[in-house]
This record gives sequence, structure tokens and C-alpha cells, in this order.
Amino acid sequence: MIKACVIGWPIEHSRSPIIHGYWLKKYGIDGSYEKRAVAPDAAESFLRNLEQEGLAGCNVTVPLKEIAFAVADHCDPSALAVKAANTIWLEDGKIHAANTDTYGFMTHLSLEAPGWKHPDKPVVLLGAGGAARAICHGFLEAGVSEIIILNRTKERAENLAKDFEGRGNIRAGDWGDRVRCGEWASVIVNTTTLGMKGEGDLGVDFFSADPDCVVCDIVYVPLETKLLAEAKRYGLKTVDGLGMLLHQAVPGFERWFGVRPEVTPELRQRVLADIGA
Ligand code: ATR
Repeated sequence: MIKACVIGWPIEHSRSPIIHGYWLKKYGIDGSYEKRAVAPDAAESFLRNLEQEGLAGCNVTVPLKEIAFAVADHCDPSALAVKAANTIWLEDGKIHAANTDTYGFMTHLSLEAPGWKHPDKPVVLLGAGGAARAICHGFLEAGVSEIIILNRTKERAENLAKDFEGRGNIRAGDWGDRVRCGEWASVIVNTTTLGMKGEGDLGVDFFSADPDCVVCDIVYVPLETKLLAEAKRYGLKTVDGLGMLLHQAVPGFERWFGVRPEVTPELRQRVLADIGA
């Protein structure tokens, strides 16, 4: 029996066991995937003991992604670019790490809005945390012409832009610019916590937005955030946050269990039922 798990602190909210459990059953694999609450000060020893625990690897969620990156013996380019890891596996006794959030976001975006790329209009990222970093890397890899990062704390946006300096045209803008960014952005991505259940709203106004602007949110509870609902109201193409969660799980499952799994409408339904959407 092959065993994997997801670690985080706290971990109760994680939907990863639903996703991997669905695939294990679907592909008839003798395996298990559980949640494990691991405190930050216990994360390093947990990761160094994967083999003794009988684990093929694990997913890593908040707030342990940076620790996983630091502990890994070998990081693939996705983890190196983001400086954080969410997928861990063992190879020849060594800890290998990847960051599949980039893959998850870009795959979902390309499936939902295949024509998203514009030759001369910028992509706007709202937020400058770890998720923004992963998505920034994805857009740079995809060769976008310009990325503008808007964050409440501008200094964090400037630091993020600086980190990716030399890889493309990327800069920080003013947080206030978000209100009308639909007029000039090709794609807008919310990576902040605003729009989550119980949090405030972003206050983006799509009244005079370009009809070709694509609006994405990585928040998936609720599935239709106020940002997405407003964008839809003005007829814009929207991309929800659930697809990123589903697609980011694919590479890990393949590593541990040896089958490249498929993200299906049935899987999406399964997770939606858990969210209560
Ligand atoms: P993650 O690593 O998951 O992306 P994070 O590092 O905690 O999460 O980042 C959260 C993001 O949401 C940040 O960009 C944060 O802005 P600040 O850098 O100014 O803190 C943003 N955010 C959280 N609450 C916010 C609020 N009330 N208004 C505006 N932005 C907010």
C-alpha cells in the first residue's frame, strides 16, 4: 500500500484528501492519503522522517511551504522560482520538492480562457504573498508582455517585482489602481484573501472594463466571489479558484501513485459538495 498525506497547521480545512481519495478509488490504487496536523517547529523532522513513516511523499500547505522548500535536498525549477514548495517526494533517499500551484493556476486558466494572452496589454496581480509569487512565475514562463502587481502594502509588491527582475517586464503599481484596472488589463488575478467568506471586498469596478478582460480569483469559498460576480454582471470572462486547487494536485498524485489523474466534472462536483457551493 502506498501512503501519502497533506501537512499544514491548521489542516482541518484541507480538501486535498477528497481529491486524492477520489482518484485512488477511481484508478483502483491500493493507497491512502490523509491529513496530518504538523506544527511549524515539527515540520523539518516530519519531512526528514517520511521514509520511516512509510510515506511516499506529501503535500505541504500554509504555513509550511517555505520550510519544505528550505529542507528539501533537491528543488525543481518551479519551487526555486517561488521559493516555496507544496509537493514533496523521495528519490534515492533524498527529499525532492516542487511547487505545483503555478501549474495548477496556468492549466486551469488555459482551459477556461484559452485566448487569455494579449500581445501588449498587462496582466494585473492583486496581492503580493506566496500565491502571487507562484502565479507571477507562471505568467513570466508563458511570456506575457507586462505584469503589474498591486498590493495594499506597496513595498511587498516592489519586493516581489524585484525578485523577478531580469525575467520580464514586471513592476509594482498603486493599490488604488485596482479600481479601474479592467479598462487596461488583459487578465486580472486576485491572490489576496479579500472575497473569502467573512472578509471584505476588493472594490474593483468593471463599469468601463474592456470586454476582453479575463477576471480570475484564487479564492474558492465562496466559489463565486464578489469580484467574479461583478465581472460576470458586466459580461466578462471569469475563472474561479477551484480549478487551481484541483489541477495543482495532479503532479503529486502521479509522483506518489504512478498514474496521471484526470480533473473531471465529477471530481469538481465532489469538492463543491464539501464546500457547500
Ligand atoms: P499567501 O501566501 O497565501 O498569498 P499572504 O502572504 O498572507 O498569503 O498574503 C495575503 C495577501 O492578501 C497580501 O497581498 C495582503 O496584502 P498585504 O501585503 O498588504 O498584507 C492581502 N490582504 C489581506 N488582507 C487584506 C485587506 N484587508 N486589504 C487588502 N489586502 C489584503
